[in-house]
Amino acid sequence: MTLKLAQRLDAVVPSVTLAMNARAADLRAKGVDVFAFGVGEPDFEPPAYVLEAAKKAIDKGVSKYTAVTGIAPLKQAICEAAARQKGFSPTPDMVTVTVGAKHALFNLAIALFEPGDEVVIPAPYWVSYPEQVRMMGATPVIVETTEASGWRMSAEDLDRATSARTKAVVLCTPSNPTGAAYTQSELEALLAVLRKKDCWLIVDEIYAELVYDGFQAVSCRKLAPDLAERMVVVDGVSKTYAMTGWRIGWSISPKPLAKALDVVQGQSTTNPTAVAQHAALAALTGPQEEVARMRSAFQARRDAMLAEVATVEGMRARKPEGAFYVFADVRGLYGLRWGGKTVQSDEDVAFFLLDEAGVAAVPGGPFGAPGYLRMSHATSEERIRGGFARIREAVARAR
Ligand SMILES: Cc1ncc(COP(=O)(O)O)c(C=O)c1O
Repeated sequence: MTLKLAQRLDAVVPSVTLAMNARAADLRAKGVDVFAFGVGEPDFEPPAYVLEAAKKAIDKGVSKYTAVTGIAPLKQAICEAAARQKGFSPTPDMVTVTVGAKHALFNLAIALFEPGDEVVIPAPYWVSYPEQVRMMGATPVIVETTEASGWRMSAEDLDRATSARTKAVVLCTPSNPTGAAYTQSELEALLAVLRKKDCWLIVDEIYAELVYDGFQAVSCRKLAPDLAERMVVVDGVSKTYAMTGWRIGWSISPKPLAKALDVVQGQSTTNPTAVAQHAALAALTGPQEEVARMRSAFQARRDAMLAEVATVEGMRARKPEGAFYVFADVRGLYGLRWGGKTVQSDEDVAFFLLDEAGVAAVPGGPFGAPGYLRMSHATSEERIRGGFARIREAVARAR
């Protein structure tokens, strides 16, 4: 008897972020005070009114299946939030509430991608995009971008990357891992290219509420109503409301696709957890001051982290427009010596920092940007300064 796994997993690699988190957790269990710059989640608690709403929902007996694509008031609230924040007005039958935004993307991958399809993804990319494409037997087509161009794909790059096989383009703005966000005119140039192509556009706007220095994040869906029949917006409560563990995200898609997603979800998770849907409803409909407070805290933390990066010889970083990551060029640290080894890659830098400074960060290679390190500033300024003090000491020891 030969017990085999499905071939579709052959080309898929596990999430490196989660692997680094696991190694950091091991160190923590051994008593090491690890500075967690690796995780992609806010250290804040969700707003108190969200937690209250969830408790009330439990007390009211919210413990049964819901409609597959989500409870009606939440879908309505998602439509109202889209009108308020993104400037377009979807209807509830376009909304699919999912178990986090990652699940919304996975549902889309199942509904859209198949062998022979190409999916255009600008690098650096969030690691799950190409892996989900590969899992479906389709082919990710990676478009390189540079720090010098602000980590943005140009219209010419996009035009060159598309072919008759292009099934979709995936755009993330602001981006994980770079924090780079496209301006309105940059998006308009990309949309002008897509207007001439016969493919889907999936826009991941999960960080759209977390932009700094007055940057205006504009939704592609608002800019190109004429492309509404082939555009999908993905969002969720994880980042904006510090609700990563509640696992609520959604997609807003044209109705025929939304119908297909209903079928996909109806045969997999059924519905996202009922109580979590009530918590997400409270997040979207409650006072939004907490979001503004978290946004300004993230901006101050970003600035604190950039200032600290500048104190480490061999590290440098561009100022990101949004999200909560500083994407630092660490090639200047190559050649450091530690434990009989020499730092020769971004992965070495990540393990050097974890072992020698107790600082967890994620290497850029798996994001499609070797030579870089993603450091999350979703942690207190005190922790940021503490972590960098350790980094400076470790680097000095290793020279
Ligand atoms: C760009 C991007 N999209 C989607 C997600 C998934 O978010 P969720 O927690 O809602 O699944 C993440 C989480 O790290 C992300 O960074």
